[in-house]
Amino acid sequence: MASGGTLLFIFTALCVTAVKRFVKVECKAENVGQYGQQSLLECVIKTSTDIKDPTIRTVAWKKLTSPEDEGDPVLGFNRWKLDRPKRGYRFAEPSWDEKNMNVSLLITNTAVADDGDYKCMVITDSGDDSMVTNLEVQARYSILTVYSIPEKIVPNSESTLICESRGGYPKGTIRWFDEEKHDWTGSSEMEVTQSDDGLFQLTGRLPLFRGSTFQRYTCVVLNASGVKEDEIIFEISLFFSVVGQGPEPIEICKIVVRLVVTGSLMVGLLCVLLFYRWRAQREYAFLVSLI
Ligand SMILES: *[C@@H]1O[C@H](CO)[C@@H](O)[C@H](O)[C@H]1NC(C)=O
Ligand SMILES: *[C@@H]1O[C@H](CO)[C@@H](O)[C@H](O)[C@H]1NC(C)=O
Repeated sequence: MASGGTLLFIFTALCVTAVKRFVKVECKAENVGQYGQQSLLECVIKTSTDIKDPTIRTVAWKKLTSPEDEGDPVLGFNRWKLDRPKRGYRFAEPSWDEKNMNVSLLITNTAVADDGDYKCMVITDSGDDSMVTNLEVQARYSILTVYSIPEKIVPNSESTLICESRGGYPKGTIRWFDEEKHDWTGSSEMEVTQSDDGLFQLTGRLPLFRGSTFQRYTCVVLNASGVKEDEIIFEISLFFSVVGQGPEPIEICKIVVRLVVTGSLMVGLLCVLLFYRWRAQREYAFLVSLI
C-alpha cells in the first residue's frame, strides 16, 4: 500500500504548510512611558518565510477603554494613505510606508490619559492579525514642602507636621520616620487628590502628641511600586527652657533639609552646632545663677 503512505505524506505536508504560513502582529507586552515625554508602543508584523514581500493594506491603532469595546482610533493607515491621526500620535518609524513591518506607535507627549490598553490591527495582502498591548504611564513625585501647624512647635503641646507632594502617577504613598528610623506612618493620615491632568497630589499629616516629640522627622514619598522618589527632613529644634527661667519657649532653629534634591546637609549641621553651643551657654549661665 504505497499509495496510502504517499497520501499520508501529502496530507502531513499540507498541514505543515498551512500552519507555517502566517501573518502575526507581535507586540512588547508591557510598555512604560514617562509623563510629558515620548512613549513607544512596539509592534512588528511577523510573516512566515514563504510570504515574499508582503504589503500592508491597513493598520489601525486604537485606544481601548475596556477589553471588549471598539476603541478610540488614534492612528490609521488605509488604502495607501494615512488617516488624519489624532494629535500627538504617529508611526514610530520616521518614514513609515506599507512595506515597513515595524508598525510601532509613538506618543509624542505622554499624558496620564494615555495609560491603558491599545489594539493594533493589521491587514496585509497575505493575511491579517491584531494584538492588544499596554502602556503604563509613570510620573515622578516630588515633595513640595514640609511644615508644621502651629508654625512654632512648643514642647509638650500638640502639633501636626504636614508634608505635600505632587505631580506623580500612579498613586503613591507618603511615609514618616523619626530620627531613629521608626515608622510613624501608622499614626498619620494621607489625603489624595487628582488634578485635571490626572497627576496625584498627596498630603500627609502626622500629629505630634505631647511628650512624644523627636527632633527630626523624615517625610518620604514612594511611587506605586514602593520605591522612594523624594524625601525631606523636618528638623525641630525645641527649646527646653528651665522652668521659670528665661524667655518663653521659642524655636531657635527650624529648618527643612532636603537631602535628595539639594543635598544641603550642611545647613542642618550648622543649625545643630549653633543649637548645642547656644544650649551650653545657657546651661553655664544657669549654673552661674545658682551659685
Ligand atoms: C521599530 O521602530 C522603532 C522606531 O524606529 C524602534 O525604536 C524599534 O526598535 C523598532 N522595533 C523593531 C523590532 O525593529
Ligand atoms: C518606581 O521607581 C522605580 C525606580 O525609579 C522605577 O523603576 C519604577 O518603575 C517606578 N514605579 C512606578 C509605578 O512608578
